[in-house]
Amino acid sequence: MSDRLASLEAIEAACWRELAAAVKQRGHPWRTPVLATFDGERADARTVVLRDFDDVRRELVIYTDARAAKVEQLRRFPHGTLVGWWAELGWQLRLAVRLEIETEGLATASRWARLMHSPAAQDYLSSLAPGAPLPDGSRPPALHAPLGQFGVITATVTALDWLELHHEGHRRAIFDARGGRWVQP
Ligand SMILES: Cc1cc2nc3c(=O)[nH]c(=O)nc-3n(C[C@H](O)[C@H](O)[C@H](O)COP(=O)(O)O)c2cc1C
Repeated sequence: MSDRLASLEAIEAACWRELAAAVKQRGHPWRTPVLATFDGERADARTVVLRDFDDVRRELVIYTDARAAKVEQLRRFPHGTLVGWWAELGWQLRLAVRLEIETEGLATASRWARLMHSPAAQDYLSSLAPGAPLPDGSRPPALHAPLGQFGVITATVTALDWLELHHEGHRRAIFDARGGRWVQP
C-alpha cells in the first residue's frame, strides 16, 4: 500500500482490513497498540496484543490477567482508546472503544483451553497480581494459580480516527455513527 488512498471509503475499508490482518500477522504494526483507560482520577495506558477481530461486530479481543489494574478500571469506566502507529505508511489509528471483560463462560474457557498448554499461559498463572510487590527482589514467585487468572477483554470500536502524516500534506478523517468525514489534522 504505497500509493495514497484518495477516498474516505477506501481509507475506512483499508483500516478495517488491516485490523483484520493485524490479529493474524505477528509483525503487523497495528498488532500491538496502546490501550488507554481511566481510573477515575487519571489516564492510564499500556501496550497490548490484538488477538482477534470480528469485522461485523467491530470487536477486537485482548487477553489479560483478570487481576490487572486495567480490568478494574474498565469495569468502572468502560470507555477506552486504542492507538496504533504504522511508521512506513505514516498512519496513526485511534480507536474509541467500549470495553468489556469476561473471566468465565464458554467463550473464555475455550480460549483458555487453547492457550493453557502454551508458553503464553504463564502470563496468567502467577500467584501474584500484575503490579504486586515481589517478596524476593526481582525474581517472580513460582507459578501456582492452577486455574489461571485468564480474562478476555472485548473492545468494540465506536469511532475510528485516522491520521496520515505525509510530506505533501497531512490528512485526517473520522469514521463513526455519523459516517466518514475529513477533519483538520
Ligand atoms: C509488546 C507488549 C505486548 C503486551 N501485550 C499485553 C496483552 O496483550 N495483555 C496484557 O494484559 N498485557 C500486555 N502487555 C503488558 C502491558 O503493557 C502491561 O504492562 C500489563 O498488562 C499491566 O498493565 P495494567 O496494570 O495497566 O493492567 C504487553 C506489553 C508489551 C510490551
